[in-house]
Amino acid sequence: MSTIKNVAVIGGSGNLGPAVVQALLDAGFSVTALTRIESKATFPSAVKVAKVDYSSSSSIAEALKGQDAVVSTIATLALKQQEAIIEESVKAGVKRFIPSEFGVNTQKVTGGTKKILGTKIALQGELEKAAKANPDFSWTGISTGLFFDWGLKVGFLGFNIKEKKATIFDSGNEPFTGTNLPYIGLAVASILKNPASTANKYIEVASFVTTQNEILKAFEEESGSKWTVEKKDTETFAKIADEKLAKGDYSSFGDFLKVYLFADGKGQSPKESDLANKELGLPKDDLRATVKAVLA
Ligand SMILES: NC(=O)c1ccc[n+]([C@@H]2O[C@H](COP(=O)([O-])OP(=O)(O)OC[C@H]3O[C@@H](n4cnc5c(N)ncnc54)[C@H](OP(=O)(O)O)[C@@H]3O)[C@@H](O)[C@H]2O)c1
Repeated sequence: MSTIKNVAVIGGSGNLGPAVVQALLDAGFSVTALTRIESKATFPSAVKVAKVDYSSSSSIAEALKGQDAVVSTIATLALKQQEAIIEESVKAGVKRFIPSEFGVNTQKVTGGTKKILGTKIALQGELEKAAKANPDFSWTGISTGLFFDWGLKVGFLGFNIKEKKATIFDSGNEPFTGTNLPYIGLAVASILKNPASTANKYIEVASFVTTQNEILKAFEEESGSKWTVEKKDTETFAKIADEKLAKGDYSSFGDFLKVYLFADGKGQSPKESDLANKELGLPKDDLRATVKAVLA
């Protein structure tokens, strides 16, 4: 596969996008941010900006001219728009497409979680088809587990930093993976620097395989104080999630996730040996340093 130089990032202005854009710039790629016409997003000065109407194939095609790779960090609600972007990417001669995955391993999920993540799963089918029909086109899916640093800040992992409170689900000892946003950026840049080994593959990366209790210990030691702990049972969330989904309420995803990640004995977490960190040449990330930075 020839070298990738020009990279288009879609949705590069959201929670994850800026870390991906920065890592690509740092790695020496020429980055173009595709952004909605109505978007007020801003980007670093080194980034070219293309305003796109995603409902128009010619608008997408124009923005993708000359791009070697497309990285999509598009919002969850807009995932389906990637169908047209994939189609135009193939026509534009894009060599690698990285879809907006960046969460739990969508190839392993079951039940309600699988239903909610259906669009991501269906897109993998589209990418596989496109790669089979066009040998110059390829894709890589990246599962990252939870956005770790972001998740700690927004309370997604059960920690309320301001009030030094933790919600621990079941025993708090179930392993799960999380990845810091800059680390996801490094993974994307590494894939595009050495695209051959990850062509048409779904891979998992993570900053850490950890547990809620390990994180709580780090928070208590780094903040020098005991935190208030509330225990919650994941079985309750399993019931709530099923009831919500039966009514078509996709906000049940947060409840399903609690069960998927934290329920005792589920064993859903990738092990260190499942991760592609080493193959991608990624450095070791540091849980303590992350907790310290989040506290600061
Ligand atoms: N693992 C985790 O813990 C975790 C957490 C959150 C999200 N995720 C996943 O990570 C990926 C990126 O999520 P994110 O939270 O970074 O996304 P986000 O911040 O919600 O949105 C990313 C960008 O998408 C564009 N966008 C928003 N609405 C759009 C629409 N209706 N049509 C087209 N574009 C739209 C915007 O860019 P412009 O304004 O520039 O157009 C926005 O900045 C998703 O696949 C999501 O499911 C994972």
